[in-house]
Parts: sequence; structure tokens; C-alpha cells
Amino acid sequence: MPSPESPRSVQPEEVTAVEVPPAVLELARSARRVCVLTGAGMSAESGIPTFRDVQVGLWERFDPMELASPEAWRHDPAQVWAWYSWRASLVRAAQPNAGHEALAAWQQRAGVDLQVATQNVDDLHERGGAEVLAHIHGSLFALRCDTCDRPSHTAYRDLAEPVAEVDPPACEREGCEGQVRPGVVWFGEALPQEEFFAAVEAAQEADLVLVVGTSGLVHPAATIPHLAGARGVPVVEINPRETEVSEAADHVWRATAAQALPALLAQLG
Ligand code: APR
Repeated sequence: MPSPESPRSVQPEEVTAVEVPPAVLELARSARRVCVLTGAGMSAESGIPTFRDVQVGLWERFDPMELASPEAWRHDPAQVWAWYSWRASLVRAAQPNAGHEALAAWQQRAGVDLQVATQNVDDLHERGGAEVLAHIHGSLFALRCDTCDRPSHTAYRDLAEPVAEVDPPACEREGCEGQVRPGVVWFGEALPQEEFFAAVEAAQEADLVLVVGTSGLVHPAATIPHLAGARGVPVVEINPRETEVSEAADHVWRATAAQALPALLAQLG
């Protein structure tokens, strides 16, 4: 198994040391309905590289954007399957971080309806104990046939290191000549409509939208905070860096997910 960077667990003394912007704390304390939209930065402290980080090793030579496309799959399925097998191996070896756990704990609080809509294809929210309303870019482990579309019970090969090529499994359905593909949304593909609209509705009906760890570069997911903002819902961005979301946010909190979310939860009172 690969060994992702060990997740940086946030210590209780650090939690109170992280200053929660007073306006954010006030919004979080009074919100009955919260919608949290997460992106790759949510899982960064679990050791999962974000899409737009510099890639390491074998993948330095490839642009992940070019691997996440139907064209790449048609052109070289073994290369694309190798890339997803490596990502799946990283995810399996990773642990949810303190941010995932804080969201799960917030969901358990009485009197709060907290919905999580994620662009992440990993399962770290679920493994951290949270219920996820929508995986708007699909799920890494929901494999299906690229031809007949049936769900597949095959699995990725576990990789200790990235490799250049791994042949995808054949579809298990008799007579189908298809190959098994990852259940993720590739560039140029439509989003799962139900999940996308569930996320839009949750954001528009919330008292607070938190946008955590997304660059806001990929549409239509990136429109969700804007749609909520247009309805007058306060939008707070949690991200160590400025993004495309920042300008539209009512408050920006320059902190990481595993710092900010446990601190926020601890100070909710
Ligand atoms: N905590 C919070 N945010 C972080 C952290 C962290 N520890 N580390 C990095 N970030 C932020 C970065 O500053 C950046 O804004 O996470 C963001 C990651 O951006 P992207 O890699 O672009 O990820 P994302 O926004 O989720 O990408 C959207 O693009 O490639 C496709 O389908 C893929 O769902 C993905 C979509």
C-alpha cells in the first residue's frame, strides 16, 4: 500500500488557539441549516494531492486534467485506469482528517441540519462519520461499464507505487464488450443531475454556506456558492489561498480545513 503523508491531527490546544473570525462564528452559531461545499483541499491534510497541486513521481509528466476525460479513456484506457488505481490506492491508505471529523460531529449536534455536498470522489467524509448529500463529481469506487453502464463489482488493483499502465477489467455482463471505468465525472461529461440539484437546493435553502478547499475553477459546481449568495445566503470561504470563490464570499477565512473546522466546532458553544 502507498503511504500518504500521515494525516496531521490537530491537537485540542491548537483548536482553541486557531482564531475563528468573530463574524464567521456568529453565523455558524445562529445557522439552523448549514450547507458545506467541499473540494480537494478538504482531503489535502489526509495526504491526498489536490488536482491542481504539482504532481509527483510518474505523474509529473501528465496533466491530471488530460487524464480525466473521455478522450483520454478512448485513447489509452490502461493509462487512465493506472492513474485512477493509484489515486484509489492513496485514498484507501489515507485516513479522514480532523476537518472531516469536525463536520461529522457538527452533523450530530441537536437543532442543526448540516448537509455536505462534495466535489471529491474519495470516501473520506463517509469514513470520517459524515453523511454526504451529494457527490457531485461522482465516486471513485462506484465502478461501472463504459459501454452498458451497469455497475461493476470489480475493483482497482492495489498499487504500492504509480505505474504507467494497468488494463481495466472487462465488463462482467455476458456478451458486453465494454471495459470497467471509474464512476467519476470526467471533463466534458454531465454531472449526476439529482446530486447537483440536491446540492444547489441545500445551498439556496441554507442559513450559511461554507466553501472549503475548492479552487472554484470547475463549473457548474463553482456556481453553487453564487446561486446561494444571489438568494441572500451568507457564504464563507475556508481556504489558505485566494480563489475564484473569494470575491463572491461574504467572509474569507485563510486557514486549512483541518485547522478551521475543528476550531469552529469547538467554539460553537
Ligand atoms: N485546506 C483547505 N483548502 C486547501 C488545503 C487545505 N489543507 N490545501 C489546499 N487547499 C485549497 C487550494 O488552495 C485550492 O484552492 O484547495 C483547493 C484545491 O483546488 P483544486 O485542486 O482545483 O480542487 P477542486 O476545486 O476540488 O477541483 C474541482 O476539478 O479536477 C477537477 O473533478 C475535479 O472535483 C475536482 C474539480
